[in-house]
Amino acid sequence: MAQTRHFRIAAIPGDGVGSEVVDAGRQVLDALASASHGTLGFTWQEFPWGSDFYARTGKMIDDDGPERLREFDALYFGAVGWPTVPDHVSLWGLRLRLCQGFDQWANVRPVHFLPGVTSPLRKADTTELDWVVVRENSEGEYGGFGGRNFSARGRGGEVAVQSAVFTETGCERIIRFAFDLARTRSRRKVSSVTKSNAQQYGMVLWDEVFERVAADYPDVETESVLVDAMSAKFVLRPEELSVVVASNLNADILSDLGSALAGSLGLAASANLNPERRYPSMFEPVHGSAPDIAGRGVCNPIGAVGSAALMLEHFGLDEEAARVQRAIRATCAQGVLTADVGGGASTKDVTSALIDNLAD
Ligand SMILES: NC(=O)c1ccc[n+]([C@@H]2O[C@H](COP(=O)([O-])OP(=O)(O)OC[C@H]3O[C@@H](n4cnc5c(N)ncnc54)[C@H](O)[C@@H]3O)[C@@H](O)[C@H]2O)c1
Repeated sequence: MAQTRHFRIAAIPGDGVGSEVVDAGRQVLDALASASHGTLGFTWQEFPWGSDFYARTGKMIDDDGPERLREFDALYFGAVGWPTVPDHVSLWGLRLRLCQGFDQWANVRPVHFLPGVTSPLRKADTTELDWVVVRENSEGEYGGFGGRNFSARGRGGEVAVQSAVFTETGCERIIRFAFDLARTRSRRKVSSVTKSNAQQYGMVLWDEVFERVAADYPDVETESVLVDAMSAKFVLRPEELSVVVASNLNADILSDLGSALAGSLGLAASANLNPERRYPSMFEPVHGSAPDIAGRGVCNPIGAVGSAALMLEHFGLDEEAARVQRAIRATCAQGVLTADVGGGASTKDVTSALIDNLAD
């Protein structure tokens, strides 16, 4: 008899479209479990943290929240941020607190071009494009070091310092992760992105570590590209990309560009991994809470569902992950698309089509 594979997942929908897309992802995974004849199961527990919780309690998360989350196999996150709470308060209070608190130092953000979805890149019509952004997720520009002072000098006199932190350990682990990932792909290539001509300390350290680690992977092609040039390369020569590794801020920006080139921010999936598995990893769409369309049932659930597929891979369920990815491709190819990618379907329509397409 097949072995039962049961996973406990903490769902944190957060704000805005977060609850709509997390609900879609849960439905898809539950459908997968229902069709498994009892060999696969997910137990969900939902947590109400986010901007509404903040309005009620003055906190983005319960004090013992991180401790309670530690026992789960994974966290499934929507998005955080709402106009009633300053963005830096909501982001640091919940998402960054979890990423940093659980040392989820590798953020994997694939850029997938899907059938039926029009890319703004003309090249995408005739060229096979597929790359993945690997983002350093624990330090760099989002290290949280700095401060504000001198407000007593009066209006216009305040000073803010925001430092970026690059440790050799942090650079080495994410760069090695990128090389290991490149070895699993048809094109074995890693592009390292910095701005080391202008940022002469942290990013020069990154470049040196990249060169040192690359020597251990002679079978993997490499290049080092400045972030401004890489943003142009995403648009002009994306066929040369396979794995792109960059610091927290640079990869954050580049991955949004990548998802826009693939057709919409609503399509992009991501995994925040603690590769040593000392803590739970967290899976979430790249997009934010989209206040402009929240509550209307029109947001694209594909980024969140793709993130659920990354969660399945993390559980070692490669066949199930591939099924979800095939369902995403089939749904798009059938033209069941939300408005951000030029269609007229609702979030519910797309979710139902994804579930139907799981059967194939
Ligand atoms: N991971 C996160 O939690 C995260 C990430 C980015 C932004 N944010 C927060 O989200 C809030 C809004 O930020 P923003 O407007 O800069 O970014 P956003 O990603 O929420 O929205 C940018 C644009 O993309 C569209 N969009 C986003 N997701 C979509 C989806 N699933 N389907 C269709 N269209 C979609 C929106 O309608 C909007 O036009 C802010 O509070 C910000 O801090 C959170």
